[in-house]
Amino acid sequence: MSLKACVIGWPIEHSRSPLIHGHWLETYGIDGSYSKVAVEPDQLETFLSGLEANGYAGCNVTVPHKEGALAQAAVADASARTIGAANTLWLEDGKLMASNTDAYGFLANLDEHVSGWDQSAGTALVLGAGGAARAILHGLLSRGIEKIILTNRTRARAETLAKYFGPAIEIVDWEERESQLADCGLVVNTTSLGMTGSLPLEFDLVSANDNCIVNDLVYAPLETGLLANARERGLACVDGLGMLLHQAVPGFEKWFGVRPEVTGELRELIVANLRGE
Ligand code: ATR
Repeated sequence: MSLKACVIGWPIEHSRSPLIHGHWLETYGIDGSYSKVAVEPDQLETFLSGLEANGYAGCNVTVPHKEGALAQAAVADASARTIGAANTLWLEDGKLMASNTDAYGFLANLDEHVSGWDQSAGTALVLGAGGAARAILHGLLSRGIEKIILTNRTRARAETLAKYFGPAIEIVDWEERESQLADCGLVVNTTSLGMTGSLPLEFDLVSANDNCIVNDLVYAPLETGLLANARERGLACVDGLGMLLHQAVPGFEKWFGVRPEVTGELRELIVANLRGE
């Protein structure tokens, strides 16, 4: 029987997930498919209730359905519960199971590019306090990072996250975001600033420690202003594409039964797509 999975969102046209999973289906010679399905905000419940009847093994979930998907799942793992959102769903004995693989993808990307980063990071600086930041904070705390400086334009959102994630999180005003850079071993941009079509991220790395690692979750463009600045400063740079690729791994394994590998070939495929080739 051919196995079926998909990604749901509204809108969904921009999603690169079909390219990633399509590449793995071909690589591993699996009889299966992975499609994009546009699900309107008020149709989520209907779509998920019919997942099994429509022949799906499961699906990925993106904006605006991540919180709704968690609410509808029969069982959610610790990462989905802690992050408060689900991006990966699958069926087990007819029950809808949920996970959030964003923290896993974030960590796996850093592990791949800067092995041992968590032993030397010390204090981390996280820019932004939206949905993506929740996954990053969960990931960093799960690796034992002891101090995380969180900064966000809207301070109240940072305060909500600090209350939720506990005393390791310290808030710095957005206007003061560079003030403690010298003490940080890792900087992560989780805001949408620097993305094609968005405003630039104004963040000067001049006072950064020479061992500081800079990770931007933005992957379009691949080389953001922040990463270009980090490269000029000679700092270790990790772009956001790796997180997108790694977060897809656990879902593929659940639906298709093979744990896929994130390879240079896969990365090149998505890079070419991002360039519009
Ligand atoms: P996501 O799920 O991708 O994190 P989000 O929840 O909309 O998306 O969060 C977007 C993040 O980018 C937020 O931290 C947001 O700051 P606010 O909480 O103040 O909105 C940040 N962001 C977006 N535009 C910004 C801007 N012009 N200046 C500063 N921060 C901005």
